[in-house]
Amino acid sequence: MKRDFLSETDFSVEEIWGILETAQKLKQQTRSGSPHPILQGKTLAMIFQKPSNRTRVSFEVGMYQLGGHAVYLGPQEIGLGVRESVADVARVLSRFCNGIMARVFGHHLVEELAQWAEVPVINGLSDRLHPCQILGDSLTILEHKKRLQAVKIAYVGDGYNIANSWINLAGVVELDLRLACPRGYEPDPKLLAQARAKKVSKIELTEDPKQAVSGADVVYTDTWASMGQEAEAEKRKKIFRPYTVDESLLAHADPQHIVMHCLPAHRGDEITDAVMDGPHSVVFDEAENRLHVQKAILVKLMGPQA
Ligand code: CP
Ligand code: NVA
Repeated sequence: MKRDFLSETDFSVEEIWGILETAQKLKQQTRSGSPHPILQGKTLAMIFQKPSNRTRVSFEVGMYQLGGHAVYLGPQEIGLGVRESVADVARVLSRFCNGIMARVFGHHLVEELAQWAEVPVINGLSDRLHPCQILGDSLTILEHKKRLQAVKIAYVGDGYNIANSWINLAGVVELDLRLACPRGYEPDPKLLAQARAKKVSKIELTEDPKQAVSGADVVYTDTWASMGQEAEAEKRKKIFRPYTVDESLLAHADPQHIVMHCLPAHRGDEITDAVMDGPHSVVFDEAENRLHVQKAILVKLMGPQA
């Protein structure tokens, strides 16, 4: 039975730890130049309705390093649900490829692809979630803090896909998560209620960035206007200004804190240059870990044990 990865909640806690362990092994192999052609002969279709640097390059490079191949399908080529129905795209790609990764506007599109595809579907970002990002981020926190449990993670900014994904992960893996979002820009209340009901993690939501960051080990932010929200950018800049991750906000964090951002960053808005390029920033380790964790996800869903 094929498995999909549309949300953090698609995996059990044991499976998430397994993926993180595989990612660490694959990272060592990649660094030492030791070949690992686990997906030799396998092909991944990559559907993009939105732009991408990290997701596109890390999936394509990852497939290559695993001995497989990735096919990029941009918005002009496939016309998901416009040129052809989502169900037909899913069924055709299943005949050519061993997996589908999709970056979409509406989350329902990855769900529909998964419903019709005979091969695994991976969510490469939707308007609801960005699960590959959050697993890569978990690897980065593990590397810098040696654990996930009891690490105080403060998310500051827009309660959109990244915030929702942290909440979803907190429903599976034990975290200490605080989110500071402006009123009207809170994360999905349904996802928050579901994660809290699982009683796996402590999840706090506030409007006060200082409160969230107080004593935090990890301070995390994301853009204020996500892909598809460009028209709201100016309005959002005014609302989100008190949520800028700058040195004065970070004075409230633990002295050994790390700063994370999924990127792309809008320097001077959600994060200052001084913070992004400062001694606490791990943003480029974080970007690199997308590669290693996604290779582990590909191996789990498309490899010999799948
Ligand atoms: N963080 C992330 O997904 O980056 P891209 O939008 O460049 O893929
Ligand atoms: N929230 C951002 C994340 C980019 C990786 C967006 O959806 O554009």
